[in-house]
Amino acid sequence: MSIEALCCASPSLALIKYWGKKSGRRNLPATASLAVTLGGLYTRTRVILDRQDSVTLDGVVQDPARFKQFFDRLRQKAGRSLHFRVESKNDFPTSAGLASSSSGFAALAVGCTRAAGLELDSRELSGLARLGSASAARSLFGGFTLLQAGAREARQLYGSNHWPELRIAIVLVSREVKPISSRRAMEATRTTSPYYRAWLRSASGLLEPAVEALRLRDLNVLGSLARLSYARMHAALLASDPPLLYWLPATVAVIRECGLLREQGIGAWETLDAGPQVKILCLEPDLPRIRERITALDPELKILVASPGEGANCRVRG
Ligand code: DP6
Repeated sequence: MSIEALCCASPSLALIKYWGKKSGRRNLPATASLAVTLGGLYTRTRVILDRQDSVTLDGVVQDPARFKQFFDRLRQKAGRSLHFRVESKNDFPTSAGLASSSSGFAALAVGCTRAAGLELDSRELSGLARLGSASAARSLFGGFTLLQAGAREARQLYGSNHWPELRIAIVLVSREVKPISSRRAMEATRTTSPYYRAWLRSASGLLEPAVEALRLRDLNVLGSLARLSYARMHAALLASDPPLLYWLPATVAVIRECGLLREQGIGAWETLDAGPQVKILCLEPDLPRIRERITALDPELKILVASPGEGANCRVRG
């Protein structure tokens, strides 16, 4: 009987963003990223060996080209011609800028290796996940993670217990699939945005102070650096040809509300990825006030709350 691997992983939210790739086909990030794994949001993945590769996400068949390099690398590691049937489900909106590819490929990396009977350590798993999606290299680990520029794998800086009172309020501004994938958008930024070089230069200066602020659990410093990181990333995106803009009117409204909250002494530090959703870093005692103010803006805005979570895990049956 063939082995069935049942895996679970949470998305990785970058506080300091990866945006752009090193040249070549190995999916190496051009900028370093510092991230937190979002406990409370899960991708659940079932993997079994099959006659051909197939992947469904929330019941929808996925383009095999997106997975080919990843599966080929697994076959190479296993030294035999294996094929994988993958069924994945997200318990949060897919492809709407909630880093679903990070949890997706992290779950896939642990699931496929287990189904193939391979024993890989967490560094190797992180490197494998990176081939699918660079942010997935971080999702392999729980807590707080670092993926250096040009690195093959991420590493954990701190476990989830480093900062248990940290919360991430995710404001769902839209449930629509984003107009352009992060992969295509970052390539368009690299090739057409005159600000891409400036992005690369400025990004490297944010990492070290952010790592230090994380060590000290200093939300004000970390939050200001996180804001600079996403704002500069989106500035480079906006300067692409044609211009790329993920923000919706409600995105801007939530960003402005965070500014007002901070003026009133409430630590609400927003960050955005390749999508319209706004993720607000805050501390647990401030959560009710932040929730109240966002709901007052628009009662239709749904808010998910995450806290530092655990890395990818897997069990096998059969
Ligand atoms: C804005 O990891 O999805 O979320 O490596 O091409 O799959 P690929 O890109 P992906 O990009 C994530 C970009 C980001 C920032 C981040 O998570 O660091």
